[in-house]
Amino acid sequence: MAKIKHSVYTSHVPAIGAALDLGKDQEPYWKKVFDGYEFSKQWEKENKPDVIILVYNDHANNFSLDLIPTFALGTGAWFETSDEGWGKRPVPDVEGHPELAAHIAHSVIQDGFDLTLCNKMEVDHGLTVPLSLMFGQPEQWPCPVIPLHVNVVQYPVPSGQRCLDLGRAIRRAVDSFDQDLNVQIWGTGGMSHQLQGPRAGLINAEWDNQFLDRLVEEPEELAQVSHVEYVREAGSEGIELVMWLIARGAMDADVDVLHRFYHVPASNTAVGHLILENKD
Ligand code: DHB
Ligand code: FE
Repeated sequence: MAKIKHSVYTSHVPAIGAALDLGKDQEPYWKKVFDGYEFSKQWEKENKPDVIILVYNDHANNFSLDLIPTFALGTGAWFETSDEGWGKRPVPDVEGHPELAAHIAHSVIQDGFDLTLCNKMEVDHGLTVPLSLMFGQPEQWPCPVIPLHVNVVQYPVPSGQRCLDLGRAIRRAVDSFDQDLNVQIWGTGGMSHQLQGPRAGLINAEWDNQFLDRLVEEPEELAQVSHVEYVREAGSEGIELVMWLIARGAMDADVDVLHRFYHVPASNTAVGHLILENKD
């Protein structure tokens, strides 16, 4: 059967992708960020997933105000990367896993979550930057990826509890897929940041680190944090963190922390990163 044993969490700052693509990753400013992922790149080589379910948000590149799905699952065979305004990133397109994605769609929808299904969609930095951080600059990504887009750009956004529950439904779906697959689930975005308005540049390291503690130790309680608290404490874009609860919901209650990293600054945000393993 398919199995989720590990989850990965990371920020998706677009400037990190640009730094890597432009060969600036060894410059002092960026080296401090990339050094936090050295363990992770090696760990991924030793624990190569067969499939990644990658929870991320589009930033008005594929979707627009014309169409705002709360949760959209990529069921296609391939996903092209977006041109976000300065040309496409020099990274491979993303191969999907239509068979597992169709199974997840069936199981999760019957379980009460009315997902939007996307046979065709482009994926932006929200998905490609986490892949770059964890895998570097390969010719091809090492495994298929099932994108799960969450609307955190245009209100209303989903609640923490809904995200945690969706993660649990995804876990039930994966557990019932009749192929031996090592499936990783990733939660991406965050940490605290605000890109506009009078509070642009806001970073709240104390709140971020509490979020990391609570994600590991008390996800149920963390899921009760209101969207207003995310905005107040972590800035208008800090709400991206609600996506991490989907990945956490797909894990056991008891987990071990294999890696934890937190660093300020990277562009306008704090970078946070965790790798969790089910205790079994
Ligand atoms: C930045 C961070 C983001 O999450 C994003 O989507 C765009 C920009 C930033 O820090 O600049
Ligand atoms: Fe973002």
